[in-house]
Amino acid sequence: MRHLLSTGDLTRDEAVLILDTARELAQVGERSVKKLPTLRGRTVVNLFYEDSTRTRISFEAAAKRMSADVINFSARGSSVSKGESLKDTALTLQAMGADGVVIRHSASGAARRLAEWVDGAVVNAGDGTHEHPTQALLDAFTMRERMGHLEGLRVAIVGDIRHSRVARSNVLLLHTLGAEVTLVAPPTLLPVSVGAWPCQVSYDLDEVLPKSDVVMMLRVQAERMNASFFPSAREYSRRYGLDADRFARMADHAIVMHPGPMVRGMEISAEVADSARSTVVEQVTNGVSVRMAVLYLLLGGAIQGPAQQGETR
Ligand code: CP
Repeated sequence: MRHLLSTGDLTRDEAVLILDTARELAQVGERSVKKLPTLRGRTVVNLFYEDSTRTRISFEAAAKRMSADVINFSARGSSVSKGESLKDTALTLQAMGADGVVIRHSASGAARRLAEWVDGAVVNAGDGTHEHPTQALLDAFTMRERMGHLEGLRVAIVGDIRHSRVARSNVLLLHTLGAEVTLVAPPTLLPVSVGAWPCQVSYDLDEVLPKSDVVMMLRVQAERMNASFFPSAREYSRRYGLDADRFARMADHAIVMHPGPMVRGMEISAEVADSARSTVVEQVTNGVSVRMAVLYLLLGGAIQGPAQQGETR
């Protein structure tokens, strides 16, 4: 694995290796070990052309916990405003010694283009409406932690599938790992290509909910769409929102997930988002371990026992 651009590029063994490595790194963290020297001397550049809270901070925390040097680049306030291209920006960062580049960009395919231009490892942190592989990996990690397995797990992904890079990355990864995914959305919020995705499709949330082990709610991405896709927030919420009544109809063991950012009161009620069966906060915590695993595996650090690592508490 040289880059992480799409979960569709991962074999089952590679995906399991990332999840297992993340588990091992999470256990090190649970022993109050704050920092590992694993990536000392490596430089990770976070290249963010789109806004982010969770992903950007999580990659920064992951790289720093493994002692990498981190350069944070935000397109806002940079020479991008003077017309500098992605390629020239990337080559500039490479000239400063980047071993790994984490990129978020509004254009689908930007991460794959970047991988053609730079020598270091490229990690896709979200490219347009295409993919968000580390989000799917942290989601799978969270499901496995909570439910104990992924094989045969029935996962409903609900909401704006059309504009969701999280949905596509999850469908591809969960299929590889043996879970059964059903996408639930109004027809206008499904991508044209959905028939070719390895999953089921439904327009009826109330029918799918009681049969699901995991219910992943997605935000309606108003910033990426035209009004004809999404006529009324109230109507959407009535048909596709997860409120207390619907939550009560879920199986007792089922969990609720959301990648964030959430719009409380729209796709998910505050009561459901804050319930003990919601994994929203755990997903954020797990994201750091999963991103540590990805950086470790791509940048070639060596996992050793804590004694050899000279870890810092
Ligand atoms: N889930 C996610 O990608 O959140 P951010 O946009 O805040 O990074």
